[in-house]
Amino acid sequence: MKLIFLGPPGAGKGTLAAAATALLNATHCSTGNIFREAIAADNPLGLKVKAIIDAGKLVDDDTTIELVRERLTGDGVKDSYILDGFPRTIAQAEALSSFSAIDKVINFDVPDSVVIERLSGRLVCRKCGFNWHKTFNPPEKEGICDKCGGEIYTREDDKPDAVRKRLSVYREQTAPLIEYYRGKGLLDCIDARPDAGLVVENLKKLLHI
Ligand code: AP5
Ligand code: MG
Repeated sequence: MKLIFLGPPGAGKGTLAAAATALLNATHCSTGNIFREAIAADNPLGLKVKAIIDAGKLVDDDTTIELVRERLTGDGVKDSYILDGFPRTIAQAEALSSFSAIDKVINFDVPDSVVIERLSGRLVCRKCGFNWHKTFNPPEKEGICDKCGGEIYTREDDKPDAVRKRLSVYREQTAPLIEYYRGKGLLDCIDARPDAGLVVENLKKLLHI
């Protein structure tokens, strides 16, 4: 199954994609994670995108499309994948349709108040990228990932100014994809306000898994 997870920042796309990729034996393709890995590695891509991401803006379409095209058309790519955070513009969606036939697009709905609550408490593992939360899903030992022992940090773009910017960019450039995919008959919506366990159950029902 080839899926797109859509939704505002903090909707839970990464958390739900991690759960669903395990259930579907799929590849989790998160453009945000790929960019953060590049930044951590200090490689040319990381140097190019760091300031853009920290400010809550979008990386340019050409760079992002090429990255995903390489990931999805390379050797050893599974038949099932979940795109988390891609596409984020109509131009990206149109480019994607030239190299991948998507089965379903799932839009995770949450109001801004929930986004702010989630992002202001999010903690991320530097090593495995897992998303923890100070209140909703804290690791057992402060500062250390239960899954891999990695160091836990707060994303630069989870600071209040960057979150406000990300929400406005989402509304202008990404939210139009909801109607775009509804028009193609590919869209399903899930209420992403309940706790993550319940949202995963609803997702399993929707995907018949
Ligand atoms: P990206 O990393 O994709 O960020 P995002 O879309 O803003 O989404 P987030 O990762 O912030 O949120 P999420 O929906 O994954 O929520 P999560 O599961 O972590 O992109 C970062 C940046 O990279 C972009 O701003 C842009 O600059 C660039 N970029 C990426 N893709 C791009 C593209 N295609 N084009 C151009 N630029 C691109 O959950 C959030 C928190 O809430 C966590 O702490 C989690 O534990 C908790 N939580 C999750 N679900 C629940 C729940 N149901 N109940 C309670 N807590 C929950
Ligand atoms: Mg994410």
